Amino acid sequence: MSSQLTPAIVFDPVTGLDMRDVAVRPAGPGEVAIEVRAAGVCHSDLHIVSGDWPADRPLVLGHEAAGVVTATGPDITSVQPGDHVVLSWFAPCRRCNRCAAGQAWLCTGTKALANTLPNGSTPFTGADGAEVWPYLGLGAFTGRLVVPESAAVRVPDELPFDIGALLGCSVTTGVGAVMNTADVRPGQSAVVIGTGGVGLSVVMGLRLLGADPIVAVDLSAERLALARRFGATHTLDGAEDVAVWCQEHLGGADYAFEAIGSPKVIETLPRMLAPGGAAVLVGMTPTGSTGSFDLFDLADQGKRILGCNYGSSVGEVDIPKLARLYLSGLLPLDELVGRTRPLAEAAQAFADLRSNTGARTVLRP
Ligand SMILES: NC(=O)c1ccc[n+]([C@@H]2O[C@H](COP(=O)([O-])OP(=O)(O)OC[C@H]3O[C@@H](n4cnc5c(N)ncnc54)[C@H](O)[C@@H]3O)[C@@H](O)[C@H]2O)c1
Ligand SMILES: [Zn+2]
Ligand SMILES: [Zn+2]
Repeated sequence: MSSQLTPAIVFDPVTGLDMRDVAVRPAGPGEVAIEVRAAGVCHSDLHIVSGDWPADRPLVLGHEAAGVVTATGPDITSVQPGDHVVLSWFAPCRRCNRCAAGQAWLCTGTKALANTLPNGSTPFTGADGAEVWPYLGLGAFTGRLVVPESAAVRVPDELPFDIGALLGCSVTTGVGAVMNTADVRPGQSAVVIGTGGVGLSVVMGLRLLGADPIVAVDLSAERLALARRFGATHTLDGAEDVAVWCQEHLGGADYAFEAIGSPKVIETLPRMLAPGGAAVLVGMTPTGSTGSFDLFDLADQGKRILGCNYGSSVGEVDIPKLARLYLSGLLPLDELVGRTRPLAEAAQAFADLRSNTGARTVLRP
């Protein structure tokens, strides 16, 4: 089989965002070729476009996607052509100590963060013959791509592709933050600051596990209305002093989830907490950000700060589990799919994200 041309949304650090044709090479050993059917637009793509996370090479953006397996490398056993898959953007190496300990979200051997496949290569080549690299090892804003086997998680055929796409990042991260990172119990209180695709998924996870009350905070009234539909019992405008509100009305929250990536907001989390409470850092700040907390209060009140990569999820376990929860009606993910747009409207999809329009915009290649 030879390379195939496919349109792709590329962020080039010199020339910016554009749509161009790239050639995708066939799947090699340990790899799977995928036809992408839907790809959500996540703030982690926008962090690249906005320069929060500087890119040093042209990247095919997109890391929240679902599709169909079209071909497999010689040694692949977990999927076959025709299978529906959700793509995991943190493809674990399955060999490091963290992977062996069942903590794939902490894998130290993954090449995803280096924006390459596990062997250091890219499947994409531009028209000029120059390499174009897969963001987070996927590069899903394209019609076709090649991923490592551990990034292609099989899901039931009846799972809609738009929903599958959101399972690739926002839902697995947000619901996982609640179920895995925090391990919230029924009746515990929680505040969620930032209710985009990730924060709304946190709210959904809290409702699923029976947290109460669930306080959602955002600057967008539209997003807060969605948060109510997903289970928030209270909503607050982000301009309010949320910490004061939490102490006055809850005696402090058991959990405070940050799903923006704002150092200033993160610094306010411990003041929202009850003694023994935990702040969960889900939002990703610009690289190099630092923050400060009242250290005496943290120690004296036994407060905790929990980092949360990918919802502390093991893709091959958690993604099928979330798919089953959706299919049995326990996660209202249909309403998390906002506008759907063709790939050519990626720039408008980023504008949707910047302006907090609707829920999650999904691109359909
Ligand atoms: N931990 C992970 O593994 C992981 C995975 C995916 C995304 N993320 C990160 O999570 C964050 C959220 O992603 P998203 O796609 O949901 O983004 P988004 O842009 O859709 O949502 C962010 C929300 O925060 C709100 N907001 C902004 N400033 C605010 C403030 N001061 N007070 C209250 N609300 C405010 C916005 O109105 C918006 O609704 C990003 O930083 C993203 O990179 C982390
Ligand atoms: Zn994401
Ligand atoms: Zn590993």
